Amino acid sequence: MYAYARGSLSALVVEGLSNVSADPIPSSLPALPDFEIRQDVRRLGLRHQILLELVAHDAFAYDLDNEGKIVRIVANLKGGGSVSLPLEPSDVEQSSHSGLALGPHTEAPYWCAVEAQNGHSPSPSALILTALWNPQQEPTALIPLAPIIKELGIDHCLALTTPWFQFTRSDSFVKGMGEDGKNVSILSFDEHGGFAVRFNVYRFSVMKEAPQSVKEAYDAFRAAIDRTQPFRYTLSQSTALIINNTRALHCRDVVRDNMRTLIRVFGYAKHVKPIICSHDPLLVRG
Ligand SMILES: [Fe+2]
Repeated sequence: MYAYARGSLSALVVEGLSNVSADPIPSSLPALPDFEIRQDVRRLGLRHQILLELVAHDAFAYDLDNEGKIVRIVANLKGGGSVSLPLEPSDVEQSSHSGLALGPHTEAPYWCAVEAQNGHSPSPSALILTALWNPQQEPTALIPLAPIIKELGIDHCLALTTPWFQFTRSDSFVKGMGEDGKNVSILSFDEHGGFAVRFNVYRFSVMKEAPQSVKEAYDAFRAAIDRTQPFRYTLSQSTALIINNTRALHCRDVVRDNMRTLIRVFGYAKHVKPIICSHDPLLVRG
């Protein structure tokens, strides 16, 4: 936990935690408002906040994500899984509230990672996940970035620090809030964590005005991600996975079992400087 708190690990697995409920899994997911007030969901959310504290992070929420609530239920609430919902919409959003496969990404927002910029708070330093239900043992996948950064070499890395990249708006954001962005970098270096990446394979692209060397670096970065075999971990109530959101990408395959339900909380490292809307609970501008 000390090594994680120092910022030098891609992820930390916590095992041997107690199960929060022995009740049988229901036959269908509760509606989101009923889901959020369940005792077992609340206990897992609280446990996440304690675990984040143990690695020197503060649990928080963005004003434009998850209705400003700290605990996010990650489940196929909106369709797109391998088994259709009874009332499946025709256009399914690409977010943790759907069952679609999500390619490798860090969590939005994508403007900055340490210090707030132009009215946007930094991306989360960490996300912590556990499973309330995971009947088919579907894994969570992550790709540590340190070996990829090393492999790319100095020229490509320098090119990724230039502001020649753009991204599209995230479907996770509250309707009417959040925006797409231009002139952002993918990689930055700082005196705290060494390096920080902000990236999403299905939302990022290189701007067409970018120099050829930047386009080549972007292609090399994408190819290195494609070549990497992700680390896979299967979550249950007795385990938690803390992912360093500046040093690892995470992804998942299409959801096979519509009862699969993860519980997620974001955390900020102590050196991060967001735009604070409220201190307790910590709510920041996205
Ligand atoms: Fe994610």
